[in-house]
Amino acid sequence: MKKREQWSSNFGFLMAAAGSAVGLGNLWKFPYIVGMNGGGIFIIVYLILLIFLGSPILMAEMSIGRKTRLNAIDACNKIKPGWGFAGGLGVLGAFVILCYYSVIGGWVLKYLFKYIISSSIENPSEYFRDFSQSPIEPIIWHLIFAAICIGIVMKGISGGIEKISKIFLPLLALFIIVIAVNVIRLPNAVNGLKFFLIPDFSAIDSLSDVFSLLLNAMGQVFFSLSLGMGTLITYGSYLSRESNIQKNAVYIPVFDLIIALLACTAILPAVFSFELEPTAGSGLLFSTLPYVFSHISYGKYIAVIFFLLVFFAAVTSAISLIEVIASYFIDNRKWSRKKACVIPGIIFMSIGSIASLSFGRLSYLRLFDNNIFDLLTILSDKIIMPIGGFFICILTGYIWNTKSMYEELSSGGIFKVYFKKTLSFLIRYFAPAMIIIIFITSFF
Ligand code: TRP
Repeated sequence: MKKREQWSSNFGFLMAAAGSAVGLGNLWKFPYIVGMNGGGIFIIVYLILLIFLGSPILMAEMSIGRKTRLNAIDACNKIKPGWGFAGGLGVLGAFVILCYYSVIGGWVLKYLFKYIISSSIENPSEYFRDFSQSPIEPIIWHLIFAAICIGIVMKGISGGIEKISKIFLPLLALFIIVIAVNVIRLPNAVNGLKFFLIPDFSAIDSLSDVFSLLLNAMGQVFFSLSLGMGTLITYGSYLSRESNIQKNAVYIPVFDLIIALLACTAILPAVFSFELEPTAGSGLLFSTLPYVFSHISYGKYIAVIFFLLVFFAAVTSAISLIEVIASYFIDNRKWSRKKACVIPGIIFMSIGSIASLSFGRLSYLRLFDNNIFDLLTILSDKIIMPIGGFFICILTGYIWNTKSMYEELSSGGIFKVYFKKTLSFLIRYFAPAMIIIIFITSFF
C-alpha cells in the first residue's frame, strides 16, 4: 500500500492548520460581526466560547484524524461503523463553503489588482456595487482564485499545502502588524480601539439579544477555527505521532484570535477615525476601507499590502477545504490526487459562478428574502457546521469515548494530558448542549 503523506514537521502542520483557521473569517467577517454585535461584549463571549467550545472540539477532530489516518468520512466510519455521515456532513459543508468562499476570494484578487494598477478607488461604494453586480468580471476573478487554490492542493500535503502555508502565514502576520501600527496613529483612532476593547453592556437588553449574541459568537468560533467540517480530521490524519495535539489545540486558537484582534485593530480605528459606520456589514472591507485608503498617506501601498494579506489568508483556508474533499476521493475512491482536485473543483467553480451572480443578474432568485449567496452561507454556517460539530462531540464523547481520545492525545504515553475531567465534561455535556440550545433558538 502507498504510504500516507505526512506533514514534514509539526511547525509545518501548525502553519497549515493555523492557515486554515486564519482566513476571511478573521479579516472580513470578524471585524464586521464585532461591529454589528456591540463591540467589546461580543469579544468577551467569543473568547469564552473559543476556550470552552472551540479548543476541545479542535482536539477531538485532530485526535480522530490522527488515530484513523483517514479522510473525514472513513475516519468517522472507522471509529464507529455507520457514523460516516458525521464526516460526510463535513465533506458536503466544505463543498458548500468553497462555492461562496472563492467568490469573495475573487473579489479580494480584483481589489488587489485594482490597487496595483491605480492609486485609489474613487467613490468606493458605487465601485463596489458596480463590480459585484456586473455579470462577467466577478466570475472571472472567482475562477482565477479557485484555480490557484486547486493548483496548490494538487501538489500534495508537504509539497503544496504546507509549503505555501509556511510562506503565506508568517507574511500575513507581518503585514497585518504593519497595517495595525499605521492605523493606530490616525487621529481619533482610540475611539475605534475603545469600541472593540471596552464592553458596552447596554447593547444587551433582552433575552433575545443574549441568544443572538451567543449564536453569532458560536457561529464565528466554528467558522474561524474551521470546525465541524472535517478539516482538522483531515489535517490531523497527516500528523505524526510525535506531535502534541493538545499543545496544537492551544496554539491554533491563540494565533487565530491574535490575527482576528489585529484585524479589528487594523480596520475599526480607521473606520472611526473617518467617522464611517463600523456596522456596514460585509461591505466593510470592500466599500468602507477603500475610502480610508484614499485618505491616508501611502494609501495605495497600504491597500496593496492589505489585499495581499487578505488574499494569502483566503488561499490557505480555501486549500484546507479542498483537501477535505480531495482526501475522501483519494482514500475512498482511489482517485489520483489530480483527479480528486479537478473534478470537485470544476463543480464548485460552476456553482460559485452562479452564486457570484447573486448580487446582479440573479439577485431576483430569493428564498425567504435570501439570495443564492446568502443561502449557501446559511446552509453551511448555520446548519451543516453546528450539526457536524454536534455529531463529532457525540461520536468522541460517547461512542469512541473520551478515554480513547486521551490515549491519542498522549501519543501512546509520550505526552501528559491535561484537564481530563474538564475536557470530558466539555465534550460530553457542555458543547452538545450549547450547540442544541443555540441552534434551536436560531430559528426563532
Ligand atoms: N476558518 C476559515 C476562515 O476563518 C474558513 C474555513 C476554512 C473553514 N476551512 C473551514 C470554515 C472549515 C469552516 C470549516 O476564514
